[in-house]
Formats: sequence, structure tokens, C-alpha cells
Amino acid sequence: MRATIIGVGSCVPEKIVTNDDLAKSIETSDEWIRTRTGIKERRVADDGTSTSDLAIVAAEKALKSAKLSPEDLDLIIVGTTSPDYLFPSVACLLQNKLEAKKAAAFDVSAACSGFNYALTVASSFIENGTHKNILVVGADTLTKYLNWKDRGTCILFGDGAGAVVLTASDDGSGILSNWLKAEGRLGDRLIMPGGGSRDPEQKNTRFITMDGKEVFKFAVRVLEESIYESLKAANLSVKDIDLLIPHQANDRIINHVIKKMGLPKEKVYVNLQKYGNTSAASIPLALDEAVSDGKINKGNIVVLAGFGAGLTAGANVIKWR
Ligand code: UT7
Repeated sequence: MRATIIGVGSCVPEKIVTNDDLAKSIETSDEWIRTRTGIKERRVADDGTSTSDLAIVAAEKALKSAKLSPEDLDLIIVGTTSPDYLFPSVACLLQNKLEAKKAAAFDVSAACSGFNYALTVASSFIENGTHKNILVVGADTLTKYLNWKDRGTCILFGDGAGAVVLTASDDGSGILSNWLKAEGRLGDRLIMPGGGSRDPEQKNTRFITMDGKEVFKFAVRVLEESIYESLKAANLSVKDIDLLIPHQANDRIINHVIKKMGLPKEKVYVNLQKYGNTSAASIPLALDEAVSDGKINKGNIVVLAGFGAGLTAGANVIKWR
């Protein structure tokens, strides 16, 4: 038995913030942001919208495309690092809103690799036979944790959610391999220092702080490693890839890696120009768009590869149903 994807969905907030909008309040320019990152605009959730509000819409769309009802779910896993509350989890909020009465629910915290980690957990649960239908969501509203005066971070992130529904299948399709990695020694390179149990009163900053250059170096190294290692685990190679969906952080990271691997641009899905880095939502949001754009067909080999705070990385190789 393998876990196969039978439904996808996504959701982004309506509000668009362009590079030119940012250039009105910080010393930056559309040209700088586009050439250094590829990002043109991002979506920003309003004050009344939290991570679960985006996640529920993505989840409902994924269930609809899977032709399953919430009652069919036996597990909900959400990858997020911007939950509505420290507890209950976003997964439990979704379980309640969806009325998925039979589903257990928990969050996975692996920042921008959160969707890869959550998908890996879900596929293991299905392969070992304990669960049949699992909703996996990647959702974040990191713009709420941005210092809008810090041009090294505020230009990068946006908000969103993406979801897939997995089911047990023996038709040869599904998740062929998973690969996960953590380098906790580099944790302070991308960190939100305030608000956790070390600093519950947020005496330190509640904003994302990042050593962009160090994260860039890590990303280039592990993105390549994750693609190779996950393919190797599936007995496949780079030439077998029909579509790579990398974490949508910076097109220079993506272009550097695919050039080195000899993967043509046509085989790589990129939508970061519209959304920026939506953290755990980035890969399922791109996956949903790639499916809608007709870029993924039955039997295709699709690789999802993410990296982020932790520092963490992960990749999943999928044979599309
Ligand atoms: O999910 C993982 C999340 N994180 C990432 O993926 C981040 C990975 N890192 C990056 O994407 C890049 O490091 C950044 C886009 C954040 C920065 O690009 P960079 O090419 O590494 O720029 P830099 O930090 O080396 O800065 C170069 C110059 C500096 O000026 P000086 O010191 O040379 O005078 C910066 O102050 O660019 C300046 N700069 C800016 N200028 C205009 C930094 N940010 C900006 C900005 N607009 N927004």
C-alpha cells in the first residue's frame, strides 16, 4: 500500500502587496527585489485572518477535488509555524470546523519544510496500515511576524495555505520515497526569538530574524542533496523527473540548483513571483497551481523539495495518479 494524492486545494488572502508598495516605506526597489529573489508581489492576511482561516479553505477545496467528505478522514496533519494558538493545534481547529469527527489531528513544526515533513508522516501512517484517508495541509501567515522595517526579511514572505488528501492505494501510484534532514546547529540563522517558553512575555523580538546569506548557502546545498537522496531512495535519477516543485523562496536558489543538476527550467514549477515565500504553504500552493495548469499528468514523477528554519529540509518523490 502506498499513499496516493487524490485531491489538492489552496487559498491565499486577497490583499496584494507589490514590491513598489514596499519601496514606499523602506529603502528598496522593485528592481532589487526582482533580481535578488524573483518576487514581484505577495499576499498578506488582514488582522482578522489567521492561519486556520486560510487552511480551512484549502482543505475544503482538496476534499472536494478528492470527492471525499470530512467524515471519511481518519487523520489531519498540518505543517505550520504560525499556528492560531500555541494550543489547540491548527489541525484540531480544522477537525472541528470541518466536522471531521473520526479524524485524529496534530501539527508538525518544521517551518518551510513543514509540508514535506507532514507528508512524510502521513505516508508512513498509510503504508503501515493504521490510517486510510489523511488530510495534509501546509499553512502559514508569517507576515504577522515580520518587521516591516527590516528589508532583509520583509520583502521575502507572504501568506497562504495548500492542502492534499491522501488515500491508501495499491495501483502503483503514490509517494515512492521520502527524505528528511535537520541541522539544528544552524537554528539561530533563522529564528523567531520571542514568544516561546524561553521568553513568554516576548522581551526579545517577536519578529523573524534571519542571516540571509547563511540560509542561502544552506538552501543551495540541501535542495540539491534532498532531490538526489529522495530520487535514490525511489531508485530513480534526475532524468526521470517530470516536474520539480521546489520551496518557493528565491529563484536564484532554484536556478543555481537546477543548472548544477542539469534539470531544464520547463521541468521546474515556479510561482514565487506572485506569492513570495509562503513557508509551509509554498509547495502545496504550487502543486495545486501546477495541477490546475495541466502541468502534471497520470504517471508523472513529481518531486517536492523544501528547506527552512530548524534548519530543516525534506523531499518527497511521487508517481502521480
Ligand atoms: O525558507 C527559507 C527562507 N529564507 C531564504 O530562503 C533566504 C535565503 N537568502 C536570500 O534569499 C538572500 O540572502 C536575500 C534575498 C535575503 C538577500 O540577498 P543577498 O544577495 O544575500 O543580499 P545581501 O544580504 O548580501 O545584501 C547585499 C546588499 C547589502 O548592502 P551592502 O552592505 O552591500 O551595501 C544589503 O544591505 O543589499 C542590501 N539589501 C537590500 N537592498 C535593497 C538587503 N536587502 C535589501 C533590499 N533592498 N530589500
